[in-house]
Amino acid sequence: MKGRPATISPYPDGPLIVRGDVELLSADGTPIPTRRRTVALCRCGLSSIKPFCDGTHKAAGFRTE
Ligand code: FES
Repeated sequence: MKGRPATISPYPDGPLIVRGDVELLSADGTPIPTRRRTVALCRCGLSSIKPFCDGTHKAAGFRTE
């Protein structure tokens, strides 16, 4: 089924928000299951549930500017 194209938006001082139908793959090509059509991907490198954001960026003071 084709819908709107997926989008990726940077959240200020936080994760990348991915909306839409996408297939997430690990570095070796293994599919990473997602439960939602919107996911937040860590870009601070500190999440304990990579590739997803767990909110650690806030406590770490991650800045994107
Ligand atoms: S961006 Fe949120 S934990 Fe890394």
